[in-house]
Amino acid sequence: MTSFKPLVFSGVQPTGNLHLGNYLGAIRKFVDLQESNDCIYCVVDLHAITAQLVHGDLGAQTRSITAAFLASGIDPKKHIVFNQARVPQHAELAWIFNCVARIGWMNRMTQFKDKAGKDRENASLGLLAYPSLMAADILVYRATHVPVGDDQKQHLELTRDIAAKFNNDFSEKIGELGVGVEMQVGDETVNGFFPMTEPLIDGPITRVMSLRDGTKKMSKSDPSDLSRINLTDDADTISKKIKKAKTDPEPLPSDIEGLKGRPEAENLVGIYAALAGTTREQVIADFGGQQFSVFKPALADLAVDKLAPIATEMRKLEADPAYIDSVLRDGGERAGAIAEATMKTVKQIVGLLDN
Ligand code: TYM
Repeated sequence: MTSFKPLVFSGVQPTGNLHLGNYLGAIRKFVDLQESNDCIYCVVDLHAITAQLVHGDLGAQTRSITAAFLASGIDPKKHIVFNQARVPQHAELAWIFNCVARIGWMNRMTQFKDKAGKDRENASLGLLAYPSLMAADILVYRATHVPVGDDQKQHLELTRDIAAKFNNDFSEKIGELGVGVEMQVGDETVNGFFPMTEPLIDGPITRVMSLRDGTKKMSKSDPSDLSRINLTDDADTISKKIKKAKTDPEPLPSDIEGLKGRPEAENLVGIYAALAGTTREQVIADFGGQQFSVFKPALADLAVDKLAPIATEMRKLEADPAYIDSVLRDGGERAGAIAEATMKTVKQIVGLLDN
């Protein structure tokens, strides 16, 4: 049985500053995965214009996310780092997926509902079709694994639905052309052109919460800068934000069960575990019964130790935009070669002539 070659793909939008949630939910995993996988990491600039068409400087934002990838330790020579707009096949495959996916599927997406708000009729068509472009990002490389934070889970389920419908709708043609690959889906072995991509949403914290409110996701759109740690924050700012983080008056519990119903404590313990590369159980074993006046300075030191060097390296890289552009150009060429081959076959499958 042939099967898909493992390939990791993920993307980050160039909208606003990256924060600790993006780092622990995604970028740190990108870095770890590159040790034993082929990886493609993309700055998704076409997604950035779905919610807001006109940006101050989209190019600078794109370079800044690229700088964060490199400063965190992603190797653009061994792997591929590029921005989406350089590879037109993303948008081309997304169009085909717009014709595979159903409007009802898109209407059910919680991120669409959140972002469109009450005035849905006035949201861009791009915002509604956003998950279709996301599926195309992944499947134009026929990627098998996608590291993301918890908030992207529903989009990845939709990616599998699109792949399954395409494989099913065109099963005869895929067989005729001999371009299918066998894969295990549940108990069944099926033959398809697109893989059933696996989300990689694991680790001690899959959703980093606001430092001001443990029930809200840490987000770039929160008006309070104290709610998040930005990847560009310097050591003093990181320390200050952790020390000011909201907590309850109780000491840390002596077992993991004791974190239930204490969202702020749970968030800080998860952040500590992820930054230290350990488990929440271990953090509780080390700090259980201690006051936040002891735990917070330890967390602040750890966060400064892990994050401040990234900020310093980012600033260095951002001072050399020509270098960043050369990384994106080279990555775009290598990504483009893979995407072009996929699209050629997709057009044959669908029956679109381009010879
Ligand atoms: P974006 O740009 O909003 O976020 C980038 C990554 O950061 C994760 N993340 C978080 N993880 C944990 N806690 C948080 N508070 C937190 N906030 C953000 C996100 O889950 C994501 O992994 N749709 C995607 C971009 C995208 C993509 C793709 C991802 C486009 N195409 C293909 C994977 C594969 C997004 O808006 O991520």
